[in-house]
Amino acid sequence: MTTLLATDSVTLESWLSDSDERTLANDVLDGFTRPFKEIPPKHFYDTRGSELFERICEQPEYYPTRAETAILAHAADQIIAQTGAGELVELGAGASDKARILLDAMEQAGTLRRYIPLDVSESVVRDAAEALIHDYDGLRVHGVIGDFERHLERVPMRDGVPRLVALLGGTIGNFPPGSRRALLRRIAGLLGPGDRLLLGTDLVKDPDVIEAAYDDGAGVTAEFNRNVLHVINRELDADFPVENFDHIAFFDRRHEWIEMRLRARRPCSVRIAGVGLRVEFAAGEELRTEISAKFTQRRLAEDFAAAGLVLEGWFTDAEQQFGLSLAGRSSAA
Ligand code: AVJ
Repeated sequence: MTTLLATDSVTLESWLSDSDERTLANDVLDGFTRPFKEIPPKHFYDTRGSELFERICEQPEYYPTRAETAILAHAADQIIAQTGAGELVELGAGASDKARILLDAMEQAGTLRRYIPLDVSESVVRDAAEALIHDYDGLRVHGVIGDFERHLERVPMRDGVPRLVALLGGTIGNFPPGSRRALLRRIAGLLGPGDRLLLGTDLVKDPDVIEAAYDDGAGVTAEFNRNVLHVINRELDADFPVENFDHIAFFDRRHEWIEMRLRARRPCSVRIAGVGLRVEFAAGEELRTEISAKFTQRRLAEDFAAAGLVLEGWFTDAEQQFGLSLAGRSSAA
C-alpha cells in the first residue's frame, strides 16, 4: 500500500501495484484462448474509455444514468432517514456525482461524517476528494485507489456511525449470476448490524429500449466497445485492426441481459506480443466484451437471499426503468 496523501480532511491510499498490469494479461490469455472468445468489461476504462462512458451517459438513448439520478434525487432523504447513515462507502465511485446527492441528504440530516470512494483511477478520486472537502464543511474523505473485485477488504473500518455501502450505475449487472452472488456476499461482509447496501440495477423492459441504449445513434457506444482493442494494443503490444470490428448489442431474453460483442468483418490474425499469443478471427467471428444484466425485484430478492442479505427498501422511477435497493445483512447469514 502507498499513502498518497494524508491531511486532516483527506486520506488517499493506493493498493494498486505493478502486478496489476498482470490482470489484463491474464484476462487476455484466458479469454482469447477459449472456444468463444471474451474479455471482461472492466478493461474498457482507460482514460479514453472513461471519457466515452461519460459521453454514453449523455446520449438520449442511454436512460440508466438519468433514471438512477432521478431516483436518488427523490429518495435520498428517505434513505438517509431510514439508515441514519453518517458514512458513505462508494464502490467504483468515478467522479462522485451521484454521491453528492446522498452527501447532501446526510448534511441536511446532520449525520455526515465521512466519504470513502473506492476507484481504480487515482486522478479521478483525488480531484473528487478536493472538490468535496471544499463543498462540505467538516467532511473527511478517505479515498481507496483499487479494484473493488480485489481490494474490498481494504475499505477502512467503520467509524462508529451507521454506514451506507453503495454500488450504483448498474455495475453489478456486469457480473454473471454466480460471481454476482459471490460479490454481493463479500460486500455483505463489509456491513455491520446497522449498515446497509445501496444497490443500483437496471430493470427488465422492452428489448427495443434496452438495445437502443447500447447502440446509440451517434455511435458512442460502438467506439466505447472498440476501445477495449485499443487498450490491448497499447498495454500488451498487440496489433488488432480495430476498424475491422463491428459493434454488436443484443438483448438475450432467456438470461435477461444485454450482450455486447465485437464482430470481425474480415478474417484476421492478431499478434499479442505482451503475452506471446497469436489469435485468429474467422470472418464474422465474435468476441464477447460485456454482459449487463437487467433485473426484476423478485430476482434481486433471490440474489440477496443467496448472498446473506435482505431487501429492506425499494425505490424506482416513474417509468420503472431502474431500481435502487436498500439491503441489510440477514440475521441468518
Ligand atoms: C457502467 C456497467 C453500468 O452496463 O450499462 C454502458 C456500461 N456499457 N454502455 C452498463 C455500459 C455500454 C454500463 N455500466
